[in-house]
Amino acid sequence: MRRLFPDPGPTDLDAELDSYLPIENPPDHRPRVAVNMVTTLDGRAAQGGNTKQLGSKTDTEHLLALRTRFDAVMIGGGTMRAERYGRIISRPENRKRREEEGLSADALAVIVSGDLDLPFDAPLFTDGSGRVLIFTRKDEAPQTETPVDLITVEGLIDTSDVLTHLRVEENVRAVLCEGGPRLFGQLVAGDLIDDFFLTTTPVMTGGDAPHILEGNLPDRVDFRLESLLEADGDLFARYGRP
Ligand SMILES: NC(=O)c1ccc[n+]([C@@H]2O[C@H](COP(=O)([O-])OP(=O)(O)OC[C@H]3O[C@@H](n4cnc5c(N)ncnc54)[C@H](OP(=O)(O)O)[C@@H]3O)[C@@H](O)[C@H]2O)c1
Repeated sequence: MRRLFPDPGPTDLDAELDSYLPIENPPDHRPRVAVNMVTTLDGRAAQGGNTKQLGSKTDTEHLLALRTRFDAVMIGGGTMRAERYGRIISRPENRKRREEEGLSADALAVIVSGDLDLPFDAPLFTDGSGRVLIFTRKDEAPQTETPVDLITVEGLIDTSDVLTHLRVEENVRAVLCEGGPRLFGQLVAGDLIDDFFLTTTPVMTGGDAPHILEGNLPDRVDFRLESLLEADGDLFARYGRP
């Protein structure tokens, strides 16, 4: 891996993420919010229905390294259906590292799903580790090995309210949103993003794959490039807010 900006030169993921400490100094009313997404050159978020063919091995390592730094990882129902998540902090060494750094061993898994039509046979629910919190319009979920709590909301689920709940009721200092495009769109529309990690993978997919950002979006939101890395042809950009 090499760093292209700032200070070009050889680097590695540990060196790049060591000083990134999102749980420090969170706002009072919501957690610090980071989003991590992978995009094709034509701005698509998936190929063949999910992200398995997008991004390199390093992109997966980057994702796993990022997760170790957050109290919670949040996704939308569409992502849970397409990606069938397992335990969020899957590697024992990462759970150990989290505990050493003042985090719980497992990150809280947060899902926003109005209809609760989720794959309850996916490893996240069957593994029995950690905890899942689902913001939904339904008031009952199937029994699962992994403890699941529902936050039942009437009408539209407001992502700003979700974040307030996470901060006030769950003491979540920093949350990593891993998409998908429609949940990401709501965070952008609500101006709720502090850090944006974008991996660009050198393929075009076209077809009917969603764009990485979907929904009613503002005309313009400004970001500032914090760093740019390259590995295996993938570009790893980290953006902050001006
Ligand atoms: N490139 C990437 O980095 C990346 C990351 C993640 C996902 N993806 C891909 O993106 C695709 C899925 O796209 P998507 O836009 O459907 O994903 P999504 O944003 O994860 O899911 C949308 C779904 O989330 C729920 N939801 C989101 N906001 C809600 C709200 N305010 N109130 C109630 N429910 C809400 C709804 O679920 P219910 O329908 O359950 O009510 C909605 O259908 C998949 O192909 C996946 O592989 C790509």
